[in-house]
Amino acid sequence: MNLKQIRQDFPIFKKKFKGKPLVYFDNASTTFKPLSVIKAMDRYYLEYPVNAGRGEYDLAHYLETEIESSRKKVADFINAKPQEIVFTTGTTMGINLIAQSYAMHLLKPGDEIIITESEHAANVLPWYQVAEKTGAKVVIIDLDAQQRLTPDLLKIHLNKNTKIVSFASISNVLGTQTNVQALAKLAHTVGAIVIVDGAQSVPHRATDVQMQDIDFLVFSGHKMLGPTGIGVLYGKFQLLEKMKPFFTGGAMSLRFNKDHKVKYAPIPHVFEAGTQNWSGIIGLKAAIEYLEKVSFELIHSQEKKLKDYCLAGLKKIDHIKVYNPETDSAILAFNIVGVNPQDAATYFNSQGVAVRSGQHCARNLVDFLKTDGTVRWSAYFYNTIEEVDRFLDAAKKGRNFLDAYF
Ligand code: ALA
Repeated sequence: MNLKQIRQDFPIFKKKFKGKPLVYFDNASTTFKPLSVIKAMDRYYLEYPVNAGRGEYDLAHYLETEIESSRKKVADFINAKPQEIVFTTGTTMGINLIAQSYAMHLLKPGDEIIITESEHAANVLPWYQVAEKTGAKVVIIDLDAQQRLTPDLLKIHLNKNTKIVSFASISNVLGTQTNVQALAKLAHTVGAIVIVDGAQSVPHRATDVQMQDIDFLVFSGHKMLGPTGIGVLYGKFQLLEKMKPFFTGGAMSLRFNKDHKVKYAPIPHVFEAGTQNWSGIIGLKAAIEYLEKVSFELIHSQEKKLKDYCLAGLKKIDHIKVYNPETDSAILAFNIVGVNPQDAATYFNSQGVAVRSGQHCARNLVDFLKTDGTVRWSAYFYNTIEEVDRFLDAAKKGRNFLDAYF
């Protein structure tokens, strides 16, 4: 597939904003959707808009087949088994599910949960709650000078009390990538489990949970061309077996009675209580099919080209400070020196350029970055060099414009 064909697949690129095509560089927040994903979701609502797991009629059976086919697609995509795939609403729910269903009843006072200072709120706050309820301790590791969690750094903090090591494989602010396989190998030497927040990596890099020996992996559909409100929790089957269902309700139990006796549905269905996001599950399969058609090779090379070009351009502008020149992905955090990041983002918007500003939910990074917030540029494979030029042009003019304005 070439870039021209790819862009034709995304209806949003036909729309104009402020008289010009929108330049969208907030892909770490969410990505645009190709027509095939939108159509797959529409097909659910138009052709088989029924419930699954409850109906003895053809349409319900058809939907169930589609759901299990999506589960298989997700499993193959990360080299897992279908019964190890739990559908969630997204990365946030995935980590909360592990925290509530695994950690809450298995951790005890004195146990330790290791995270890093660059984690997103979704990989911090659930652990604060676990610590409060169980008496376990959250150990927050400072990153090294290259803005990474390395095996050497992890080794300093690992000990026999470490039960969980949880980190993002790519940081949503710094864009740096961790060596998951090496970190997992190390964590396993003390018997700790490894939880990988794959929200920013699964959409951009091939993931192999077996090769990387990941215990739990969570990610979101909407950051990988899929619908919002659908995500995935992968867990090694023997770990899923240790989890106690946290969300309870319809379809996750086979029987119960007035004596409080409950026979739960098998894994993974036991963790999917209530009516699920069926169209989202179906849309996620279409998103994976699209990504496979594009290929991670092309995704990676296009993102690298865009990032190298953008970084080189930003470095030439005196009034721009880039905070993560060592980034491994198409994520750049910067500021227009002396300008509040929210004001800068508002200015970029006035130029038809969408970027995110603030702390990007990674609030423990403030001391490390020595700033209260940044503007974040994040690209995906469908972005173009011409769009980066429009962004750089706005960045060049930004300081003068804001000086005059304020
Ligand atoms: N987690 C998303 C981001 O980093 C929303 O922007």
